[in-house]
Amino acid sequence: MKRLLFLGMLVFAIGACEGDQGPTGPTGADGQDGAAGNDGADGQDFPGPLPDEYINADGILGGAAYSKWYTTDAGGTGDAGATVSADFFRCKACHAWDGLGNTGSYADRTGQSTLTDTRPDVSSVNLRSSAVSYTVDALFDLVVHSPGRTIDAMDNTHPDYSTELTVGQVWNLVKFMREEWVEPGLLYDLEVSGTAMYVDYSVGPPVVVSPTLTYSNIGALGNAADGDASYATKCAACHGADGTTLDIGGRSLGLFVREKPNEAWFKAKFGEAGTGMDPGLVTTTTELQDLYAALVDETNYPPLP
Ligand code: HEC
Ligand code: HEC
Repeated sequence: MKRLLFLGMLVFAIGACEGDQGPTGPTGADGQDGAAGNDGADGQDFPGPLPDEYINADGILGGAAYSKWYTTDAGGTGDAGATVSADFFRCKACHAWDGLGNTGSYADRTGQSTLTDTRPDVSSVNLRSSAVSYTVDALFDLVVHSPGRTIDAMDNTHPDYSTELTVGQVWNLVKFMREEWVEPGLLYDLEVSGTAMYVDYSVGPPVVVSPTLTYSNIGALGNAADGDASYATKCAACHGADGTTLDIGGRSLGLFVREKPNEAWFKAKFGEAGTGMDPGLVTTTTELQDLYAALVDETNYPPLP
């Protein structure tokens, strides 16, 4: 009897505990943001920091070296040395003033392969795009090209310049190629119709075939009045008020700009060894454009009398 009562109470007690669960409580507030993480280590610049030799190099002297590396104006000894073939005196002989080789202003000019044995063949390399697509160290090696073709050989392939140029001159050349070359289209337009100069042996006797080069829009992006002012201060003392005082290969300065716009800017910017025209006369592209805008005028800057 006692046990039954106990069991009944137990059942009652269990039943009393089994109520329905209450509703889910509200979601708690968002926790606090965690503390900021540590900064990561600095990444490396691609393709690495520029070497001091490049930073300290002089691209204007590099341009002078591109024209004639052995001159004192360009940091050379003044003498190319007895063993150096004249073919290798000037980078521009093979790569042209515009760096475009035989696809640009030298498309109608080449050497041995067109039976002109006083000149080397013009390269088909586009040095302007090489200059921006390689690292400066790679460019250095490409200029030096060691071991390359020896420099006393008559040939058009790249010579080994490591024995002729100082390390400083090569860095100057690298800096020139990357930073100081002016985009031709900023100074003039050039249309080359036909393929680069070659000898056509399919006819008898063989003939040299040349493309036609047409320059236009010379100085179209410049300001002629500013160019006249710049000419008066920087050029007139030697070339005369109208550019006719000096005979430059049968041309006045005005005619030179009109007929050889691919070359004139180079001389204004990088000088001409042995003439008193030092490297760096006109260094900005704007001033070069202005000078072209002025000198293209045949009335103000006529041909030689
Ligand atoms: C006699 C002709 C000649 C002369 C002079 C010459 N080069 Fe070259 N250069 C070439 C030819 C051809 C090539 C491409 C084929 C080769 O490497 O032989 C070339 C290749 C190069 C290249 C590598 C371009 C690339 O994309 O691979 C550089 C840079 C260069 N020359 C710079 C110079 C500089 C700077 C000078 C003057 C110090 C110079 N060259 C003088 C003919 C010449
Ligand atoms: C200190 C005198 C002097 C000054 C200043 C001068 N030139 Fe000359 N320039 C010369 C001499 C000298 C020649 C070579 C004449 C000759 O061929 O006999 C020359 C030649 C040139 C040539 C032709 C180079 C060649 O390869 O035949 C150009 C282009 C030229 N000068 C442009 C200019 C320009 C542009 C200015 C002004 C920014 C200028 N020059 C300032 C003295 C000077």
